[in-house]
Amino acid sequence: MDGFLFSSAPLGHLVLRNRSIRSAAFEGMCPGNLVSDDLIRYHQSVAAGGVAMTTVAYAAVSQSGLSFDHQLWLRNEALPGLRRLTDAVHREGAAAAIQIGHCGQMAKKSVSGGVCLAPSGGFNLYGPTFPRTITIDEIHGITRDFVVATRLAKDSGFDAVEIHAGHGYLLSQFLSPFTNRRRDEYGGVFGNRARFLREVIREVLSSCGSSMTVVVKMNLQDGFPGGGGLDEAMKVATLLEAEGVHGLVLSGGFVSKAPMYVMRGSMPVGVMARHIKNPWMKVGTKLFGRFLMKPEPYKEGYFLEDALKIRSIVKLPLIFVGGMTSREGIENVLEKGFEFVQFGRALIHDPAFINKLKTGEINISGCQHTNYCIARMYSGKMVCFQHE
Ligand SMILES: Cc1cc2nc3c(=O)[nH]c(=O)nc-3n(C[C@H](O)[C@H](O)[C@H](O)COP(=O)(O)O)c2cc1C
Ligand code: SF4
Repeated sequence: MDGFLFSSAPLGHLVLRNRSIRSAAFEGMCPGNLVSDDLIRYHQSVAAGGVAMTTVAYAAVSQSGLSFDHQLWLRNEALPGLRRLTDAVHREGAAAAIQIGHCGQMAKKSVSGGVCLAPSGGFNLYGPTFPRTITIDEIHGITRDFVVATRLAKDSGFDAVEIHAGHGYLLSQFLSPFTNRRRDEYGGVFGNRARFLREVIREVLSSCGSSMTVVVKMNLQDGFPGGGGLDEAMKVATLLEAEGVHGLVLSGGFVSKAPMYVMRGSMPVGVMARHIKNPWMKVGTKLFGRFLMKPEPYKEGYFLEDALKIRSIVKLPLIFVGGMTSREGIENVLEKGFEFVQFGRALIHDPAFINKLKTGEINISGCQHTNYCIARMYSGKMVCFQHE
């Protein structure tokens, strides 16, 4: 089958060998917040499996941005491991990206140095945490952390960074009117809520943008009443294009308040409770999990309608993500004007998914969207239930 999927295309300073990118999907393979051999093996296998670029997930730009014990923290000590990872990916002919972010009010105090920061403090039912309101000095400090993290990523051999501004983490908490109730210049009208993101992007681009591809993962909608909607996403996309980012990954949802909006389907609450170590959270998840993580209907390419709205107003490369599993579906999205497609679960299910599409061995992924791989995130390594 001819089509776009196996044609090369530019993304910022890169030319990718085809249109497929492994999305940032938390691997849970960084004990001590450092790179493990498992993490290197996994990304090497995805690169060998045919993707054009693989994205290491959810690296915190500072200790206060950590939400898991086994999450990467992008600091000097991580550099040798990251260098081995990027070398391994490059040997397979793929590019390497790393997602950088700060979790804000989703911090786990035992690993984040006892700090939990939010645009507006108070009780966060979904942590559950009592974050304190972040000060303006701390906002400036975290902005610098994004720049340092991007430099470290470059020194580690990464070709691209993906700045996480979606899914209800810190930058997204600032954008969202639900979590940002500030009365200073970082809260209120859209331009104020977007100020932190704009400052991060400006600083990162001015320090590294001439040699490093910089993309941003953003929400199309937060996915619950009172959260950010598509009208605001259109403003975010316009702003980011004007700032000069090289591409946008269009996703949606809030891991705290609307987690299934990100992934769709339902959450296997029992599996999740089994993997949570904190006894209160374990019991809470068993009792209330099904109410807090309400199922959302799944269909292939579930963000397509909203993403097309963004396509109609910006010209920069757009990276589609969300439930893509079939060759036909992928070609359809590419034909509609999206330059690249990201895959999370299809590549957790089978790192060789892209090569198998290429040879015609399969036309569709065997992932059944059970979300078991997500339910394990609290303590386990990322793995598909079909291969455990
Ligand atoms: C196990 C798992 C972990 C994830 N972790 C992250 C993450 O760290 N950062 C992120 O932006 N998205 C994360 N996601 C969301 C994916 O990147 C992607 O947006 C979502 O799964 C939809 O794509 P898919 O249908 O191809 O899986 C995760 C998804 C899964 C399945
Ligand atoms: S556990 Fe396997 S089948 Fe279920 S969503 Fe994850 S990759 Fe797909």
